[in-house]
Amino acid sequence: MRISIASDHAGFEQKEQLKVYLEGQGYGVVDRGPQSDDRVDYPDFAQLVADDIAKGQADIGVLVCGTGIGMAIAANKIHGVRAANVINVEFAKLAREHNDANVVTISGRFVDLDTNKRILDAFIGEPFGEGRHAGRVEKIMALES
Ligand code: RB5
Repeated sequence: MRISIASDHAGFEQKEQLKVYLEGQGYGVVDRGPQSDDRVDYPDFAQLVADDIAKGQADIGVLVCGTGIGMAIAANKIHGVRAANVINVEFAKLAREHNDANVVTISGRFVDLDTNKRILDAFIGEPFGEGRHAGRVEKIMALES
């Protein structure tokens, strides 16, 4: 499992800790930045992770900003990306089971670190539900063309 992770300044502190957490579980983690909490623009970092997904260089993307909302909006502009803004464990599971999301965007300002760790565990561990969900996800992807 290869994971690409990035943040903006608002998500930097949690991004650093979540990277260590994921590496500790044995995942291959590529950190797309930033390398400090200096003010940056979240679309620049959403693009780096989304490109890793689009090019098949990562299986899952993790993006952390203040809310997770801007990261999701930006990442979903890249073809092949299904980014979900997730604030609890149940949404993490449903984003995988129903939507086959390949990027999870999380909040560094409104969701605590332990909850975000459990969100990542759930997102990574939950398989796509296939069945009735498959045709719906195909219709989402058809909207790109
Ligand atoms: C930065 O102030 C903030 O706008 C950003 O982190 C994020 O919450 C955007 O959606």
